Amino acid sequence: MAHRLITHLLKDLTNMRTKIIAGNWKMYKDLNESAELLNGLKTKLAVLPNGVKAIVCPPFTSLALAKTLLEGSPIAIGAQNMYHEDEGAFTAEISPKMLKSVGCQYVILGHSERRQYFKETNEFINTKAKKALASGLIPIICVGETLEEREKNITDQIVSVQVKGCLKDISSADAEKLIIAYEPVWAIGTGKVATPQQAQEVHQLIRKLIGQLYSWATAEKVVLQYGGSVKPENAKELLHQPDIDGALVGGACLKADSFAAIVQAAA
Ligand code: 13P
Repeated sequence: MAHRLITHLLKDLTNMRTKIIAGNWKMYKDLNESAELLNGLKTKLAVLPNGVKAIVCPPFTSLALAKTLLEGSPIAIGAQNMYHEDEGAFTAEISPKMLKSVGCQYVILGHSERRQYFKETNEFINTKAKKALASGLIPIICVGETLEEREKNITDQIVSVQVKGCLKDISSADAEKLIIAYEPVWAIGTGKVATPQQAQEVHQLIRKLIGQLYSWATAEKVVLQYGGSVKPENAKELLHQPDIDGALVGGACLKADSFAAIVQAAA
């Protein structure tokens, strides 16, 4: 009996996914403002809570600065986008090789703002995700429905098509490494947060889908973040849902205090 209990507990412990909190700075913070925020974060997050990772995703122009200022800090660095070639005549694009040279370990792909304003498709995001993985970067792939889609009751369908499309031809070994961020478009920058139940429902759906596409073992390993008006006040409840393993934070990551408080709430 005791043996069975211990085996069970060990299984639970080994299944425990790291909580990952990422801050998507979007198109905010010039170089001076970035330095102020990075220094603030370095102080406030000098030590991360057990089992929690923190990532900052500043604009491209501040990535090299982040590498310098975060030297010796446990905070990791990510980019907000990339192109799927190492180099070439692709004016204004940034390659995974370049991102790695400025200390990036992560890259956000397919954010709803990229989908909406720059017409990025699941197919394009999938191409970039494969290249990121092949280059040793961990993609944070964003999915999520619009308000209209939620009201039409097609959230599950929309999110399933996005997840399947973005994961096409990605091996299970690679799928286990990546992060999927569920960001309902209606909750982004609107102050309208999904209820923990609404978020959990979609996260559970995504994990089940990964289980069908790969295996349950793979599904158990994939980190699923919630994004959309995450704040210090609502972070704890969201982050303690069984299938929510982290947050992708927009507005609240632009102040060291509030981002640090969200990271602490994940503990
Ligand atoms: P907000 O936290 O400002 O709603 O933004 C969420 C987001 O888009 C993170 O990628």
